[in-house]
Amino acid sequence: MASVSIFSTAARRLEGKVALITGGANGIGEYTAKFFTQNGAKVMIADIQDDLGQEVCKDLGPSVASYIHCNVTNEAHLKNAVDSTMAQYGKLDIMFNNAGIVSYPKPNILDNTLSEFEEVVKVNLIGPFLGTKHAARVMIPAQQGSIITMASTCSTIGGAAPHAYTSSKHGVVGLTRNTAVELGKYGIRVNCLSPHVTSTSLTKTNFDLDDEGISKIYSNLKGVWCKKEDVANAALFLASDESKFVSGHNLVVDGGFTIVNPAFSMFE
Ligand SMILES: NC(=O)c1ccc[n+]([C@@H]2O[C@H](COP(=O)([O-])OP(=O)(O)OC[C@H]3O[C@@H](n4cnc5c(N)ncnc54)[C@H](O)[C@@H]3O)[C@@H](O)[C@H]2O)c1
Repeated sequence: MASVSIFSTAARRLEGKVALITGGANGIGEYTAKFFTQNGAKVMIADIQDDLGQEVCKDLGPSVASYIHCNVTNEAHLKNAVDSTMAQYGKLDIMFNNAGIVSYPKPNILDNTLSEFEEVVKVNLIGPFLGTKHAARVMIPAQQGSIITMASTCSTIGGAAPHAYTSSKHGVVGLTRNTAVELGKYGIRVNCLSPHVTSTSLTKTNFDLDDEGISKIYSNLKGVWCKKEDVANAALFLASDESKFVSGHNLVVDGGFTIVNPAFSMFE
């Protein structure tokens, strides 16, 4: 394992590493793919939006980025994405199970359908299960790797998103902890990431939230709200050797949102 310099913020922190990023054609995944390559990684972007994914790879350059069609609910697709990464780059150091969806908010459970619930759980929880499984398949022989799954602040609180989304993101924490316990003996770290609301097509389409709307959502930190760069920075930390002793962790990136109840606080 490479030694970590205290000056590593200025260095390329993923030099020589290979990452597979699901949902990398858009939003947080796209931003993270760019950020990872700027830090020296080679990335395989796996998504269902082929044109967008290919465009992102073109921008990043064919020497550092490749695209593969992959629906994360399909085990054969994920197996193929992992195998293609191995064929193209010779190894897999970082698996970022980022792809996720949210159903349109319906505040009454009686209006929530089984098929909508299943669809969200399939992408947000079964997808990461399959991604973790197939990443582990190639990381175990290598005796190293970092698996990161995208959760959300909805992994720690209730009431901020539809039932399926909250349930799936709580499930991600369970999957992370269980697989971290199992895979630790192979030197594989497994963590998840829980951002606050961030401006992407997911929030725009499902919650009608533009940048201004997001800036008005309660934040415990004055004048700041979660940006894609904040999430990508946290993913970079979990992907890099700087987090070599961090496993089974849910890294919450929310400016303190989930640890305070503003309705019952002794501080103004
Ligand atoms: N934006 C937020 O406020 C926010 C907050 C916390 C967590 N998250 C999580 O971050 C992750 C990324 O979300 P985003 O906001 O960037 O959304 P986004 O819609 O901008 O991007 C999601 C990407 O995932 C891809 N995708 C969707 N279903 C897929 C499937 N079945 N197989 C493969 N790819 C698929 C989409 O094509 C898209 O490129 C999600 O897991 C989401 O739950 C988002």
